[in-house]
Amino acid sequence: MKLLKLAATVAALAVPAFAFAQDVKIGFVVKQPEEPWFQDEWKFADIAAAEKGFDVIQIGAVDGEKVMAAIDNLGAQGADGFIICTPDVNLGPGIVAKAAANGLKLMTVDDRLIGANGEPIEGVPHMGISARKIGEDVGNAIADAATERGWSLDEIGVIRVSYDQLPTAVDRVEGALDMLREAGVPEANIFDAPQARTDTEAALNAATIVLNKNPDVKYWAAVGLNDEAVLGAVRAAESVGISPDHMIGVGIGGSDSAINEFEKPDATGFYGTVIISPKRHGYETAMNMYEWITEGKEPDPLILTSGALATRDDYKEVRASLGIE
Ligand code: GLA
Repeated sequence: MKLLKLAATVAALAVPAFAFAQDVKIGFVVKQPEEPWFQDEWKFADIAAAEKGFDVIQIGAVDGEKVMAAIDNLGAQGADGFIICTPDVNLGPGIVAKAAANGLKLMTVDDRLIGANGEPIEGVPHMGISARKIGEDVGNAIADAATERGWSLDEIGVIRVSYDQLPTAVDRVEGALDMLREAGVPEANIFDAPQARTDTEAALNAATIVLNKNPDVKYWAAVGLNDEAVLGAVRAAESVGISPDHMIGVGIGGSDSAINEFEKPDATGFYGTVIISPKRHGYETAMNMYEWITEGKEPDPLILTSGALATRDDYKEVRASLGIE
């Protein structure tokens, strides 16, 4: 009896304070699994996992119900924590509660959770992009390209492909628009095109309405949350017969959606993109979560990553300088 007790004590002592690498399971939940950006994030999370020997569980969750089910599912699979880009930032309190109920560590990527008071939930470590600054880069790129083409800034109509329920989207487009306003684009020339979802099709539908309503505008530019949003506006312009040299679209992302566009034999209205880093957002967040689980090292509360402008002419060099491919 005594011996048995002793054995049990030794066994209990032998249990490590933190999990072994091979036991660690980390969820990576994204709002839009078909978008190249999110596939790249997953790819880089997998690289971190292969390096350290943990498991990444990839889950696409396109709405609130799927998010909640995903978190329960991760709990049931014995995951230790997860990283999420939520389809709706207002799910914040629900996500935090669900994670806690399942004993899961929680980090967010790309889109920061909003609390009941309308403010970001600061207790959840987050990695996002420096949205305002990157937006400004977009606006400056458009103003420079327009000047280079000899356009007068007050002759340009700007399609603001918008998704205003997402704070990072507002920061991005407003950063861009402020630079365009400063460069001389009149407020009356800025047209809101609210997209129902953050994909190309929704942006195309929204932008088409703006273009049809404003047939007299001479030149067009487009800004949006990401490459997909701007591509939607570019496709809309093509569909109403606006030629590529009358449209300047600058996106944010630099994943396959943008690269495919640059690789087309003829230039389109998709003039450029500010390349951001899926490696940092995928690899680094996974590593941070892994160290949190295995070493108890808490991730930085807030990291904002930067971007670099690339156009059809220089995207290969810009990618090389960023260490992509
Ligand atoms: C948001 C967008 C994505 C991507 C990320 C980058 O989640 O929807 O397309 O731009 O931000 O952080």
